[in-house]
Amino acid sequence: TNAPVKVAVTGAAGQICYSLLFRIASGSLLGPDQPVELRLLEITPALKALEGVVMELDDCAFPLLSSVHIGDDPNDVFEGVNLAMLVGARPRSKGMERSDLLEANGAIFTAQGKALNDHAADDVKVLITGNPANTNALIAMRNAPDIPAERFNALTRLDHNRAVAQVAAKAGVPVTEVTHMTVWGNHSATQYPDLFHTEIGGRNAAELIDDQAWIENEFLPTVQKRGAAIIEARGSSSAASAANATVEHMRDWVLGTPEGDWVSMSVPSDGSYGVQEGIISSFPCTVTDGEYSIVQGLEIDDFSRAKIDASVAELVEERDAVTSLGLI
Ligand code: NAI
Repeated sequence: TNAPVKVAVTGAAGQICYSLLFRIASGSLLGPDQPVELRLLEITPALKALEGVVMELDDCAFPLLSSVHIGDDPNDVFEGVNLAMLVGARPRSKGMERSDLLEANGAIFTAQGKALNDHAADDVKVLITGNPANTNALIAMRNAPDIPAERFNALTRLDHNRAVAQVAAKAGVPVTEVTHMTVWGNHSATQYPDLFHTEIGGRNAAELIDDQAWIENEFLPTVQKRGAAIIEARGSSSAASAANATVEHMRDWVLGTPEGDWVSMSVPSDGSYGVQEGIISSFPCTVTDGEYSIVQGLEIDDFSRAKIDASVAELVEERDAVTSLGLI
C-alpha cells in the first residue's frame, strides 16, 4: 500500500471540521487506495474538545486513517505535511472593526505561513478556507518565502457549487448538466459568478436562460448572499457544504479536474484577465499533474468586466489594509 499522505487541518474542533475530518478519513479526498495521517491544529482551550473529535474518528475505525496527531503549536503540527487545509480563523465578534478582524487573522496566518515554510514537506499544497479567505491566503503566502506562491490557494469552490445548484434549478436540469462555471474575484458578497461561459448540456447558459433580469436580480444576489441566508435559516454558518467544497478543491488540485471542464479556484493572480498581480483572486482553472493553470482566452463583456473589477478592487483594498498593518 501507499505511504500515508500527511494532511494538516486547522480549526479542527470547529463546525466545518466536524464534517471535513470524517470526509478526509473516509477517503473522499484522495480516494480509496490512499491512507492519510491527520495532523490537527487547534488553540489551547479547544484541545479538549478536539480530543473528543479524535475519539469519534477512532470510533469510525476508518481503514484509511493511519494516525492522528493533535496539537496547539503549528511548528509541530505542520511537520512534514503534504497538504494543509487552513480552516481555523478568528470570527468577527460584536464591536469588532474590519481592521481588528484583519489584524487578528493576520496574526494567525502570519504564524502559520512561517511554520509551513519551516516545517512542511517540499510538495506542500495549502488551501485557506478561514475568512477572509483570499487575504488570509495572501498573508500565509507572503510569510512563506521558500514555498512557491502558487501552492497557496483560497476557497471559492463553495460559491462555485452554490452557483451550479442555482442555475441547475432554474433550468430544471440535474447539476451534472452544468459545466464551465466560473466564480471570479473575492470570496465575499462582491464575488461574480459568471453565467456567460457556463454551459447547460453543452449550450451557453446565459443564452439558454435568456433572462438578464433573473441573472442580475436573482441569481447573482442569491449566490452572493447565500452564506448569510444559511446563517439566518440554520442559526450558524454553512459547515457541511463548506467542508464538501474544501474536499473538492483539494481533491481536484491533487488528482486533476474533469476532462473538458474547469473549476473555480482562488489563486495568486499572474495578471490574467487584467486582475492585478499580488492578490489571490478566483479564476476558472484546470489542473493536470497536480498543477493548476488559469483558463485563458475567455471573452469578458462589459457587464462581466465591471463585476470582476469591483471584486478585484475589494481584494486590492484588503491587500493594502494588511500591508499597512505590516502583516505582509
Ligand atoms: P468555528 O468557529 O466553528 O471553528 C473555527 C475553529 O478554529 C475553532 O475551533 C477555533 O478554536 C479554531 N481556531 C481559531 N484560531 C485558531 C488558530 N490560530 N489555530 C488553529 N485553530 C484556530 O468556525 P467554522 O464554522 O468551522 O468556520 C471556520 C472558518 O471558515 C470561518 O472563518 C468561516 O468564516 C470560514 N468559512 C469559509 C467559507 C468559504 O467558502 N471560504 C465557507 C464557510 C465558512
